[in-house]
Amino acid sequence: MENAVPVHAGIIMDGNGRWAQRRGLVRTQGHLEGLKAAKRITKAASDLGIRYLTLYAFSTENWKRTSEEVGFIMGLIRQYLKSEFDFSRRNRIRVRYAGDFEGLPTDIQKEITETIAQTADYNGMQVILAINYGGRDEIIRAFRRLTTARSCESQFTSLKENDITEFLDNPDVPDPDLIIRSAGEYRTSNFLLWEGAYSELYVSQKLWPDWDKEDLEAAIADFSGRQRRFGGVLEGKNG
Ligand code: IPE
Ligand code: IPE
Ligand code: MG
Repeated sequence: MENAVPVHAGIIMDGNGRWAQRRGLVRTQGHLEGLKAAKRITKAASDLGIRYLTLYAFSTENWKRTSEEVGFIMGLIRQYLKSEFDFSRRNRIRVRYAGDFEGLPTDIQKEITETIAQTADYNGMQVILAINYGGRDEIIRAFRRLTTARSCESQFTSLKENDITEFLDNPDVPDPDLIIRSAGEYRTSNFLLWEGAYSELYVSQKLWPDWDKEDLEAAIADFSGRQRRFGGVLEGKNG
């Protein structure tokens, strides 16, 4: 075994619409089931000893969908945040956020702020909710924060990786070791572009609403056999 359980796993929770369509249901029904899967997998991840779990729930590009679908997803997020606290308390889960916060409806902003404050002292797994999140958008916002924090424009000539990392949404969270995508698509769709530079990728054919603890265990088992080189050469290998 090369690695144990990932310290930080990110999940692109994809396939809700297809799940519903295959059953002759409306897409929104798939999102409802997707939320249940998100709760199942959060519990499973916490039980398996993952320390940070980033859930990609809504991208900066997902606003392109019909207002009915977007409205339904926002409604689910609202409901999830309201009912989340008991679950977080029982499991000592600390909730955090990544994304363009200002672009969210104000009542959801309020719910997120409250949930973050209520769970701030919990020392179990940290769940980072990526809502209205885009990797490019995060990097742009990091640059804006950097330029506000440091006045001199000539800073850019000596720019280092750390200068950017410091202004990302959650600078203290380690880069994801593993990025999982459900529903068989082999792309990142703008998820954790900077942080995911050396993440191991795992694509599952299963649609997100069908995900269970066994699927997460299978992803972790696959991850545990990977050789991570980070651009280097392993001693005693490769001749
Ligand atoms: C993922 O499921 C949920 C969101 C992107 C909000 P989709 O809604 O993208 O499901 P498919 O890809 O159409 O099946
Ligand atoms: C990625 O899924 C975003 C989330 C899961 C929140 P999409 O369904 O939006 O991605 P594409 O459009 O297939 O790339
Ligand atoms: Mg999709």
